[in-house]
Amino acid sequence: MESSIILALDFSRKDELDDFLALFEREKLFVKVGMEAYYQHGPKLVDELKQQGHDVFLDLKLHDIPNTVQKAMKGLAGLGVDLINVHASGGSRMMKAAIEGLESGTSSGQKRPLCIGVTQLTSTSEEMLRKELQITGNMKNSVVSLANLARESGLDGVVSSALEVPMIKEACGDRFLTVTPGIRLEGDMAGDQNRVCSPKKARSLGSDFIVVGRSVTGAKNPLAAYNILKSEWRNSYEINR
Ligand code: C5P
Repeated sequence: MESSIILALDFSRKDELDDFLALFEREKLFVKVGMEAYYQHGPKLVDELKQQGHDVFLDLKLHDIPNTVQKAMKGLAGLGVDLINVHASGGSRMMKAAIEGLESGTSSGQKRPLCIGVTQLTSTSEEMLRKELQITGNMKNSVVSLANLARESGLDGVVSSALEVPMIKEACGDRFLTVTPGIRLEGDMAGDQNRVCSPKKARSLGSDFIVVGRSVTGAKNPLAAYNILKSEWRNSYEINR
């Protein structure tokens, strides 16, 4: 992957998405296509982004019975995306089925997309966990137990808040990928996110990839915001080396 910063292309209008990408000229990006863009523009958008040379994370967070997830993943593997995900709470059989589907849908000579499991959404708070989801115990324990389940089921990593990365790495090993949304630059609004973190802190906690949406897409100058993110990420790397 060319970049550790994944830009969330959360646009439903194609002209807005194109205008946003045009700001980066010919820079090769790591972009995320989520429900908002994919449900409007589908496989054609993914194909276009791949043709432009970007790495693509297809963030559809599959969560269904194992057979359905297996067949869906078989088809999605054919799009040539680099990273894809499921909800880890779909359970071990579902996650194993996702990997089987991806393997069977990947053409020979191609690399199967990396597959990660969403642990607890970064919009979920400790209070929601207990009151609404009826999960006893705290956020970190829930995230780590889902991360362990994902690793045992053959997934390549998880999505979590950066705040949980040290515990995930300790439980699942350093090579188990951590992809962390809920990233905010200083002074940005958290919005619907709960477990937020700065890029610098995410890096110092050991996050492998950060996912950034509104801090860049909603900035007055998105390119300048992206460059700040990149330098925060790089500088904290230098400090931590
Ligand atoms: O705008 P913001 O930076 O909050 O966007 C975060 C992006 O990451 C959104 O596209 C959201 O769907 C995604 N995401 C997340 N939390 C997860 C998984 C994905 O916020 N656990």
